[in-house]
Amino acid sequence: MNLPNMLEAKKRDNLEVNNIDYKSTLLDKSLVGKKYFVRTYGCQMNEHDGERIKGVLSSEGMIETDSLEEADLVILNTCAIRENAHDKVFGFMGLIKKLKESKPDLLMGICGCMAQEESVVNEIMSKYKYVDFVFGTHNLDDMINVINTRIKTNKQNIEVYSNSNNVCEGIPEKRESKYTAWVDIILGCDKFCTYCIVPYTRGKQRSRRKEDIISDVEKLVKDGYKEVTLLGQNVNAYGKDLYPDYTLADLFRDVSKTGIPRIRFVTSHPWDFTDEMIDAISELPNVMPYVHLPIQSGSDRILKLMGRRYTKEEYLTLYNKIREKVKGVSITTDIIVGFPGETREDFSETLDIVNTCKFDGAFTFIFSPRENTPAALLEDNVSLEEKNERLHELNELVNKYSNESNQREVGKVVKCLVLGKSEKDESKYMGYTENNKLVNIVSDIDVTGEIVDVKIDEAKSFSLNGTRV
Ligand code: SAH
Ligand code: SF4
Ligand code: F3S
Repeated sequence: MNLPNMLEAKKRDNLEVNNIDYKSTLLDKSLVGKKYFVRTYGCQMNEHDGERIKGVLSSEGMIETDSLEEADLVILNTCAIRENAHDKVFGFMGLIKKLKESKPDLLMGICGCMAQEESVVNEIMSKYKYVDFVFGTHNLDDMINVINTRIKTNKQNIEVYSNSNNVCEGIPEKRESKYTAWVDIILGCDKFCTYCIVPYTRGKQRSRRKEDIISDVEKLVKDGYKEVTLLGQNVNAYGKDLYPDYTLADLFRDVSKTGIPRIRFVTSHPWDFTDEMIDAISELPNVMPYVHLPIQSGSDRILKLMGRRYTKEEYLTLYNKIREKVKGVSITTDIIVGFPGETREDFSETLDIVNTCKFDGAFTFIFSPRENTPAALLEDNVSLEEKNERLHELNELVNKYSNESNQREVGKVVKCLVLGKSEKDESKYMGYTENNKLVNIVSDIDVTGEIVDVKIDEAKSFSLNGTRV
């Protein structure tokens, strides 16, 4: 048994990254040939971890099911970013408790970012005894041992480490898509924005070796993939912890040479975004013109309290540079309202910056205090009613600009990577433009997995309608 410790999680050392190779472990015989159900919450990196959990279980002889009732093993891969992410998971756990009453052999485990939180693990140990095992973000590669120990000892098994210098290569993956793939390039985060739990749940910043990333992409090209998304909490810091002078700009150039038709990347922290990176994005034909550039607030006072390390002016300078240099770029952002101490004036500055930038899209959140983060200790003096009003007002504005951005696409012929049938209308296909807009496409033939020309006929707030030409 190993329990998470937030103080340990906060520590950063100067030790070198330890590259280890995945070693498989035989899964307990009682589960071989049985069915597993995995549900993942949270960001793309966690989605990708979900693909690894499935990859490992499948390679050990289990079979995936999307029916909870059929499952013999259920794993919830959780997110801790906001309180509502917690609530969803605890709600779902209740459902599984009921299932366990009629199916006593059913095993249930929790992993992901919530598993790294002391309070969550304490709660699981005291109140949720029916949770069979817990493992964290740093020992996903050891998941089979965690499950096996639970079966052997017949006791709740909690195995969570607070920090890690390891980067584990070669964990099996069962990818959701045959055409677009996630590729981690940098793990953890050292930014410690004062509101954010990620540096505690994902540990210290560790870049993967460039050759490992490039060989992953080469394999994906061979397997017919059309797109990769390079992932990290802050991809723009890539290489800093590993190479004297090899950066994301260099990685873009090397990944570009693999011939993968499309390269995307998320998320960009404004602090580490260099001119060389902007040049690489604008020059390389297969790096897509789409940047997710979270601003969080338009008030310098709040940005400082958030520990974001840039001012509104610095953000704007970067924003304008990207807009000027990268042809056809779309830029989206993240914004938090109701940070402790945010006045009406601070909030108006956020509205002002949205009016200035006219973002192509934005994800907006109400501040949620997270355990052990500095912002959770600040006096939360904005009423919930006021927070909701601010969120509503912001969303109206953000939607106006994303709608306008979509309207500008009408009449154009754009390249779309088609990913499958449209969810809303089975007679149509769905795909993404180079600047990451979702398009529902009319086509008389199945063009799934292809990059096709589409004429945009109509714009909705959050998607486009078009016809293959
Ligand atoms: N690494 C990314 C963000 C990852 S979390 C970056 O720095 O841009 C995604 C978004 O969740 C953040 O951009 C922020 O807007 C939001 N978020 C993070 N912590 C939050 C909190 N405690 N309350 C509300 N929103 C939060
Ligand atoms: Fe969180 Fe800031 Fe790191 Fe993003 S950069 S993950 S917001 S600490
Ligand atoms: Fe959530 Fe962890 Fe991602 S907290 S947003 S799943 S890094």
